[in-house]
Order: sequence, then C-alpha cells, then structure tokens
Amino acid sequence: MGVEEHVVSHYARAGLEAAILAGLAAAGKDVARLGIDDLAPVDEFHVGGRAATEVLAAELKLAAGMKLLDIGSGLGGTARYLAARYGCDVTGIDLTEDFVAVANALAARVGLGRRVRYVHGSAADLPFPPAAFAGATMLHTGMNIADKAPVFRGVRRVLEPGGFFAIYDIMAEADLAALAYPQPWASTAATSFVEPAARYAACLAEAGFTLTHQRRRRDLADAFFARLRTTVASAPPLGLHLVMGDTTRTKVANMIAGVEAGLIAPVTLIARAD
Ligand SMILES: C[S@@+](CC[C@H](N)C(=O)[O-])C[C@H]1O[C@@H](n2cnc3c(N)ncnc32)[C@H](O)[C@@H]1O
Repeated sequence: MGVEEHVVSHYARAGLEAAILAGLAAAGKDVARLGIDDLAPVDEFHVGGRAATEVLAAELKLAAGMKLLDIGSGLGGTARYLAARYGCDVTGIDLTEDFVAVANALAARVGLGRRVRYVHGSAADLPFPPAAFAGATMLHTGMNIADKAPVFRGVRRVLEPGGFFAIYDIMAEADLAALAYPQPWASTAATSFVEPAARYAACLAEAGFTLTHQRRRRDLADAFFARLRTTVASAPPLGLHLVMGDTTRTKVANMIAGVEAGLIAPVTLIARAD
C-alpha cells in the first residue's frame, strides 16, 4: 500500500451517512429540513470546528459567485459554509471516497447541490484547468501530504493570478519524536507529515505565492478541546466521534497532549498567487 491508500484506510468509514442521519434524528433534528448549522458538529473536522472556518473565511474578502477549491474537503462542511454564507461556488476534492459521497449527499440535503460539488481525487494531481479558481482553502489536510512543494505548485496552477490559498493545518512547533499516535489525522507516524510553518512558507514561495498572513491559533484550540473532552466523555448523538470511530478517545487525548506540550499547534497561513 502507498501513502495515499494508508491515508484512505485511516479515514474510510462505511455507513457514515446513515450514522450521521441517525445522530441528527436523535438530536431532535428533522432530517428532511436540515440546514448547514445542523451539520456543523460533525462536518467541520478541524480544531475549532465551524468557528475556525468562520475566522479563516473572514480574512479572505469573499464575494458571491467566486469560484473556490477546497482541498481535502472531507465531509464538506467548509465548502457548504462558504457557499451558504458568502454565495461562493465551491468545488471540494478529497482522497477518501466515502467522505466524497457523504459530502455530496449532505449538500443536496441542505439545498446546496448546485453551488457545491465534491470530487474524488488527490491534491497531488488536481484535475482542473489552469486558473480555474479565484481561491483555494485547505483545512487540516497538509498533515497527510508528504511532499508539499509539488502540491502547492499544483494549487498555484489552478489559481488565477492574485488568487488566495488559505491553509489551516496542525503544524510542528518542536521535534515530534514524542508525539503519540493515533492522532485524528493519522493512525501511525507513517502517514503523518506535520511540518513547521517555515517549511510551508518555503514551499509556498517556491510555488509562486506571497505569504500575507501567518497566525498560531491556540485561541481556537482551547474552547474546542473542552468540547471534545465532553464528546469523548458523553458521546452525544452528533459529533466528531462519528468520523473518528472507536479510537476517538485516544486520538483526542494524543492531540491535546501534543498541543499542551508545545509539540504541535493549529496555524493559519494565507498566501496570494503571484
Ligand atoms: C482531517 S480531515 C479534514 C477534512 C476537512 N478539510 C475539514 O476540515 O473538515 C483531512 C482530509 O484530507 C483528505 N486528504 C488527505 N490527503 C489528501 C490528498 N492527498 N488529497 C486529497 N485529500 C486528502 C482526507 O481524505 C480527509 O478527508
């Protein structure tokens, strides 16, 4: 198995759509009348959840009709938020076929099937023409990408000049030898490619981007970790434990320990295509 197959086997989860719908119903939602906010506890698979997506989007000068690409779109919450809140036209791409299917089904359920679509594919081989998008987002996906330089060159190719590339990843703040696994993004160190922000910045510059924003987001982490601890303790009907599966407790504990020990931190980077 290559790295991408291992990444998919970490995330793949059969029956996820049915589990999410059952969770929504158990939480008292009418599954025939869902809105994007109903899905937020489960479809924003990154530190800070929806709040982090809102904070990042607010930095981006978004406008209705803008064509955007979300790389590693997961269950699709970020793309649906950008479409519903800002009127953008968003394409998501993700390696995990189970996630792509659920993302498309959920978009149809909330009436966003025309403004949002998710395709199955790799960030390493973006199947889009040059300058197809005005901006790209990538949330908590770089940790699965071993060689970021060619991926960032591919992102630059599909962006218009002046287009933005907004990244929100877990990045390395120290030597990671002591980081324990599984983490939410990787079962073992073999598919974890957490790197320092300086490495991202170098890859962005080499790919033809100018970095315009860089910020460590511990502020988003603290409230989110308190919520995750509650999720682990009480397993509410709807939450990221549906996506992380049986090892949720260990993944969450290992991630929080890594952040609290100063090994890793969530960081936002925004760059403009030269
Ligand atoms: C932690 S999840 C984040 C999902 C989503 N961005 C979010 O924030 O809710 C990471 C996602 O990246 C996807 N992924 C990992 N490596 C990828 C690659 N090389 N190309 C496309 N998607 C990838 C995984 O399948 C997974 O859905």
